[in-house]
Amino acid sequence: MNKPKIAPSLLAADFGNLQRDVELVNRSEADWHHIDIMDGVFVPNISFGMPVLKAIASHATKPLDVHLMIVDPDRYIDTFADLGAAVLTVHYEACTHLHRTLQAIKNAGMQTGVALNPHTPVSLLSEIIEDTDLVCLMSVNPGFGGQSFIENTYQKIKELKELIQLRNTETLIEIDGGVNADNAKMLVDTGANVLVAGSFVFNSSDPEETIRLLKQKVS
Ligand code: DX5
Ligand code: ZN
Repeated sequence: MNKPKIAPSLLAADFGNLQRDVELVNRSEADWHHIDIMDGVFVPNISFGMPVLKAIASHATKPLDVHLMIVDPDRYIDTFADLGAAVLTVHYEACTHLHRTLQAIKNAGMQTGVALNPHTPVSLLSEIIEDTDLVCLMSVNPGFGGQSFIENTYQKIKELKELIQLRNTETLIEIDGGVNADNAKMLVDTGANVLVAGSFVFNSSDPEETIRLLKQKVS
């Protein structure tokens, strides 16, 4: 059984002190760096692009979990591989040829991730789960940090876990949005393997300690 992972989302970091916050995550008990790329088209917000990711990658010592909230992600798969992404997650809703996209991610040497918006049913993954290393269940509408957790996510975790067990795959279940110390344990007990946390970590007075607290809640 995989130990639950904590992936702080740098979207909530202080962009004026990005190196400091990346190094904070390096030092902490976190497992991955979660990196949100938004294009202002797929989601109504723009985060940052390749030059900033390059700067993050030059300081990060943990695997880069890159979450693409962009249309037509195929255009940039090789670029994200070159920038050092370990996991590359694309949105189900943004990919017309998802199977082709996941093969391209795999061929570029990265782990494949598929994210589902809150309204997108887990059952749509039925024919693609074998090709998916990680499913990111969005527990808020993507685009912004600091939103409230959508409770229906628990039901989706259960359905996804059933699908993974039925197909006997090693797919990880990641939860992204509104994660905090109050819901972390319940999420993992329901079946989550990776918890992304942005504002709960970086808006706290001691982010390193908050990461430790989250880790302790799920261990
Ligand atoms: C939202 C992003 C999340 C975001 C989570 O679109 O995908 O990764 O940073 O932020 P919190 O933890 O504040 O909900
Ligand atoms: Zn994210």
